[in-house]
Amino acid sequence: MTYNLLSGKRGIIFGALDSNSIAWKVAKRCYEEGAIFTLTNAPIALRKKDIFDLASQCGDMPVIPADITSIKDLEKLFDESMKLMGGRIDFILHAVGMSPNVRKGLHYTELNYDYFKKTLDVSAMSLHKVLSVARRKDAISTWGSVVTLSYIASGRTFSSYSDMAQAKAMLESIVRSFGYHYGVARKVRINAVSQSPTVTTAGQGVKGFKAFAHYADCMSPLGNASAESCADFCVTLFSDLTKMITMQTIYNDGGYSTMGISDKLINDCFNCSDDCKKED
Ligand SMILES: NC(=O)c1ccc[n+]([C@@H]2O[C@H](COP(=O)([O-])OP(=O)(O)OC[C@H]3O[C@@H](n4cnc5c(N)ncnc54)[C@H](O)[C@@H]3O)[C@@H](O)[C@H]2O)c1
Repeated sequence: MTYNLLSGKRGIIFGALDSNSIAWKVAKRCYEEGAIFTLTNAPIALRKKDIFDLASQCGDMPVIPADITSIKDLEKLFDESMKLMGGRIDFILHAVGMSPNVRKGLHYTELNYDYFKKTLDVSAMSLHKVLSVARRKDAISTWGSVVTLSYIASGRTFSSYSDMAQAKAMLESIVRSFGYHYGVARKVRINAVSQSPTVTTAGQGVKGFKAFAHYADCMSPLGNASAESCADFCVTLFSDLTKMITMQTIYNDGGYSTMGISDKLINDCFNCSDDCKKED
C-alpha cells in the first residue's frame, strides 16, 4: 500500500550498503511514497556498487560519496543535494554504525581505545556532525525530520554488543540535545528508532547475533520487527503526520522493550524441565 505521504519532499539517505541494509528498505519506501532524495555512503562502501542498483530502482536518484566523519564531505553532500534537488532538505535518514573493536573481535574488557574513538565518531558523533553542518547551512526546511537508528543496548547490557552500547547511548543523547536546539531554531524534529535485531552486515557483525535475534523474537508478542516495518515507520516520521514528535527514542521492536518474560520463551526457547514449569 502506498499513501503518497512524502510527495514533494526532498531527502538524504545515509547507510544503504546492500539489499539487506535497513537504509535500502527505507529508500525504497520513500521512493514509493513520492519523495526524491540523494543516496550517500562512505567512498569505500561505494566500491561494492550495490547502491547504484538501488539508485536505479528508485528512478535514478543521485549517489554522492561522503565519509560521515568528514565535515568537508558533509558540506559537499548538503551543497550538492540542495543543488540537485532544487531546495532545502525535508528529511534525513542516519543509518550508520561501525565498531572496529567488534569487527576485530576484541573483548569488551580489553578495548583498543583508538578503535573506541572511531566507534563513537562513526556511530554517534556523526549525527552531531550532520546536524551541525545542516544547521550552519540552514539546509533543513522548517518542520523537517531527521531519523537515526538505535538499539536497546543503549540502556541495557547485551554482553556482546561491546562499545556499540556506548555509541548508541551517545547517539540517543545527541537526539535529545540537538533536538532541543534545532527544534527551537527551525522546528526541525530529531528522533531515534530503536529497531529489533535485523539480519544486515552491521547486525551480523555482533557475536552471537543469531541467538539474540532468536531470543528477542521469542520474547516479543509481535515477534521481531523486520527492516521493512522499520522503513514503514521511518516514512511516517518523515511525513507531516508526526509533526509534534521530536527528541524521542521510539521502539520498533514488536513489544520486546516492555517485556520481562514470555510463555514462548519458557516453552519453546528454553528447554525448561517440567519442574521449572510447575506452579508453586
Ligand atoms: N541490524 C540490526 O540488528 C540493527 C538493530 C538496531 C539498530 N541498527 C542500526 O541500524 C543502522 C544501519 O545498520 P544496518 O543494520 O542496516 O547495517 P548496514 O551494515 O547495512 O549499514 C551500516 C552502514 O554504515 C555505513 N558506514 C560505516 N562507516 C561509515 C562512514 N565512515 N561514513 C558513511 N557511512 C558509513 C556502512 O557503509 C553501511 O552502509 C546502524 O546504526 C545500526 O547500528 C541495526
